[in-house]
Amino acid sequence: MIFNVVIFGAPGSGKGTQSAFIANKYGLKHLSTGELLRSEVENKSEIGKKIESYICQGNLVPDELITDMLANVLDKKQNEKGYIFDGYPRTTEQAKALKSILKERGMKVSIVLDLDVDEEELIKRLLYRGQTSGRSDDNYDTIKHRIQVYNSKTAPVKEFYKQEGLAVEIHGTGEVNEIFSRISNSIDSL
Ligand code: AP5
Ligand code: MG
Repeated sequence: MIFNVVIFGAPGSGKGTQSAFIANKYGLKHLSTGELLRSEVENKSEIGKKIESYICQGNLVPDELITDMLANVLDKKQNEKGYIFDGYPRTTEQAKALKSILKERGMKVSIVLDLDVDEEELIKRLLYRGQTSGRSDDNYDTIKHRIQVYNSKTAPVKEFYKQEGLAVEIHGTGEVNEIFSRISNSIDSL
């Protein structure tokens, strides 16, 4: 059976960090829309040129663009065990789109892990990461803006997944390993 995880949470909540552990333990393919978009920007592709300013300002890239990109990647990088969707969906529109993209391919979302971390800790982590990440959005003003965008546009996606009965809240502060064992417990209990 294919197992698909959505990892959900504010900027800096640890989605990328935990996805690497999950992918490794459960044999899932990690798909980070943020990373896919950054590589388009780096390669100066047509998409890359269109989206650069959204990313460095901390705004969401338009839904249609993301959904097309993701559907393409799913077809190119097939994985028999399943996927981790990291940083996607970020709007209720995207959540509906993911549902139909998966349905068209005979799949569905199995669990949504919602990493809960308070704002002060998010800012601290991202400023620290910004010292070495080279990411155009890891600076104080853009971090604050990303958190606002998360609260207004992305946090409502939780309601969608609560109604679907898929959301599991994970306490996202503490040691990385501790958080991973909370996640593993939730996955294993399915
Ligand atoms: P994206 O790349 O998804 O960035 P983000 O959501 O802002 O999240 P981050 O990658 O900053 O954080 P994370 O949760 O992965 O945490 P991490 O593990 O790195 O998106 C970037 C941009 O792309 C968006 O702003 C938007 O423009 C665009 N975009 C992407 N997807 C889109 C979509 N679907 N629709 C529209 N636009 C989209 O951890 C953070 C730091 O904390 C690291 O340094 C890590 O080492 C550290 N850390 C992790 N865990 C812990 C811990 N337990 N204790 C202490 N430190 C920790
Ligand atoms: Mg990330």
